[in-house]
Amino acid sequence: MWPDRRLLDLLQIEHPIVQAPMAGAMDWELAAAVSQAGGLGSLPCAMLNPKQVLEQVEKIRGRTDKPININFFCHQPPKADNAREAAWRDRLASYYRELGLDPHAAVNAPSRAPFNAEMCEILVELKPKVASFHFGLPETPLVARVKAAGCLVFSSATTAAEARWLAERGADVIIAQGYEAGGHRGMFLTEDLAAQVGTFALVPQVVDAVTVPVIAAGGITDARGIAAAFALGAAGVQMGTAFLFCPEAKISAPHRAAFKSARDDATALTNLMTGRPARGVYNRLMRDLGPISDIAPQFPLAAAAVAPLRLQCRGARFRRLFTLVVRASGGARSGNAGARAAGKTLRRGTPASQPARCRRGLNRCRESGFLVKGSGASSRSRVSIAQRRNAMCP
Ligand SMILES: Cc1cc2nc3c(=O)[nH]c(=O)nc-3n(C[C@H](O)[C@H](O)[C@H](O)COP(=O)(O)O)c2cc1C
Repeated sequence: MWPDRRLLDLLQIEHPIVQAPMAGAMDWELAAAVSQAGGLGSLPCAMLNPKQVLEQVEKIRGRTDKPININFFCHQPPKADNAREAAWRDRLASYYRELGLDPHAAVNAPSRAPFNAEMCEILVELKPKVASFHFGLPETPLVARVKAAGCLVFSSATTAAEARWLAERGADVIIAQGYEAGGHRGMFLTEDLAAQVGTFALVPQVVDAVTVPVIAAGGITDARGIAAAFALGAAGVQMGTAFLFCPEAKISAPHRAAFKSARDDATALTNLMTGRPARGVYNRLMRDLGPISDIAPQFPLAAAAVAPLRLQCRGARFRRLFTLVVRASGGARSGNAGARAAGKTLRRGTPASQPARCRRGLNRCRESGFLVKGSGASSRSRVSIAQRRNAMCP
């Protein structure tokens, strides 16, 4: 049924669909539901401490014995820059005042830590089928330990050069992350956002650049996207935003509402939330400061000053005022609004289980002339720029 079974055979799973790890937007419940339904569930650990990782994995294993992916960031730790951080807080002070918060109060928000020797110990102990990384790979000895423990190593590439770099350093599978993707760009050999390409340009480039299986990620939300990815040589897909509609996702009510009302041009890449470019639903902060700004401190330091604003905006009182953001791709505007359990989302997206839907999807694709949401779809927008500028939420 599937033109490329390499991922299925490697992982011993039923559907070649990886639920993207989404730090801050989900926990063990979504990962367990997806794995149990025959895909590959992923637990994001970038914002968890070692004890929390152990607890979350124990919960997944209490629910399913199927393969899982445990995911980490592996960025360079930032250099402290007090002057830049003070300038960032000053720039955000008016929003703090608007929300009745003290701009000088200490912030107690979980940070994003890179994979290290301590986490490696835990990974080796847990032995998940897959360990995946964002922003490159950990140090070579750590990668060797993970592989020696029997884990397959996945990592994201946003260019063919990054894919080759990862494959040469032991990645067993490459996730080709296109420009449309929600969340952080996994880019690590380049900072040139302007040269990043869309999923359906990137996938064949990466497929030609490496011999390991390639997973397509970015703007894929249903069977037609999956069929297109396979047509370009992918052996699987990684979907994030589509799973945020599931009741198992842990996102706030304003965040969910923003997705439901979002249209195809409702997102942009921004570094304001964490200091690193990530695709998010357009919000007031992005509008006021510009989505990419030099004043945001280095990743992940920018997030600390934004965190209290985000938390406060979750409260009903400020919901209509603004929501200071979430990450999500243009996938938000597909016909998948409304909660749908993770297993159902998985089956809905699976051409193998729904060949008729897949054929219909491909026909619709041909008729409409677009495959991917986000990038080339803006001409189909139903929300004008003026409407978007005026929108207070998010
Ligand atoms: C809210 C959100 C959080 C994300 N967090 C992570 C993460 O912690 N680790 C990671 O490897 N990728 C993360 N990603 C990126 C995904 O791995 C993937 O590239 C992306 O979701 C694919 O695009 P899509 O959202 O259009 O399906 C995140 C994506 C979203 C939407």
